[in-house]
Amino acid sequence: MTSSPKTVVLLGGESEEREISIQSGTAIANALSQAGIEAETFDWDPSRMRDFLSHGYERVFIALHGGSGENGTVQAMLDLAGIPYTGVGMRAASVCMDKFLSKDIVRARGAAPVPECMTLSVPDAVSRLESGHADWSDIIDKIGLPMVVKPARNGSSVGVTIVDTASQMDDAVRSASLSPDEIVMFEQYICGHELTVATLNGKALGVCQIIPKNRFYDYDAKYNRSDTQYLTPSSLGADFDAKLCRLAEAVVQALDCTSGVVRIDFLADRDLNPYFLEVNTVPGMTSHSLVPKIAAKAGYDFPKLCSMILDMAH
Ligand SMILES: Nc1ncnc2c1ncn2[C@@H]1O[C@H](COP(=O)(O)OP(=O)(O)O)[C@@H](O)[C@H]1O
Ligand SMILES: [Mg+2]
Repeated sequence: MTSSPKTVVLLGGESEEREISIQSGTAIANALSQAGIEAETFDWDPSRMRDFLSHGYERVFIALHGGSGENGTVQAMLDLAGIPYTGVGMRAASVCMDKFLSKDIVRARGAAPVPECMTLSVPDAVSRLESGHADWSDIIDKIGLPMVVKPARNGSSVGVTIVDTASQMDDAVRSASLSPDEIVMFEQYICGHELTVATLNGKALGVCQIIPKNRFYDYDAKYNRSDTQYLTPSSLGADFDAKLCRLAEAVVQALDCTSGVVRIDFLADRDLNPYFLEVNTVPGMTSHSLVPKIAAKAGYDFPKLCSMILDMAH
């Protein structure tokens, strides 16, 4: 009898999404156990790299959201160490961490429509703010109002503002300037519907429509409130959902995200024109996360979903 590879779920991490990652990773380890797969958990921090590598793990389930676990760094370490892992590779992870770069690629490959957007580095944004009378007219002329100002490399809706008037620009840019190496993104505001698609190994599992009580799907709606509505399938019709699934499959193809489960966020305007927003390469896997909801409707219970993702580790 051959024994199964020594498996670990990598959770925690150093990003702002640490607590969510602990919930995701714990849920995954429990689900794997229900599926008959023994897996340890390891609380990741970049300073624990040597300790991690000393355990002789042979297979890694990455359950880290944001930071080194989602930006390609952990993936690169595992590549060098020759340890197979779940999900997308180093290059795809680092591209998808940058909402502007990933939109650029999706646009250039013709995979899906994207909102109009442009960027400023944080040092450039800060020097405009420090001039005392910041002039945003070049950006407003190009993007129009309302627009969305947000950090290009963060998640969980942190630092996202919908700007209706020019006078709100300074505060919005300040909120999005999270760190000196951030990029501030200015994006056409899409008013209508909020949607997400889960794909497993490049094939769409289904659509979830999100109906937040506030104006947008903010941090509170994601993690604290219980009055956000989630509809799978969406209320926008089977044809619309099918179209969105095809777009999601084209996006993950263009961004090389066809391994494991990823979540692709879209918006649709009132005429149901869809726009690609971002790919989450390590989506939440807690009991109230979107991917497990979509997978359940597609006939995969959580233990089955987790064991299928693990089977694809490479
Ligand atoms: N261009 C946009 N138009 C309208 N709403 C937006 C736009 N960009 C972001 N939002 C709102 O902000 C939320 C977070 O934005 P997103 O780009 O998905 O970043 P993240 O989820 O990584 O924080 C979206 O789910 C949506 O509710
Ligand atoms: Mg998002």
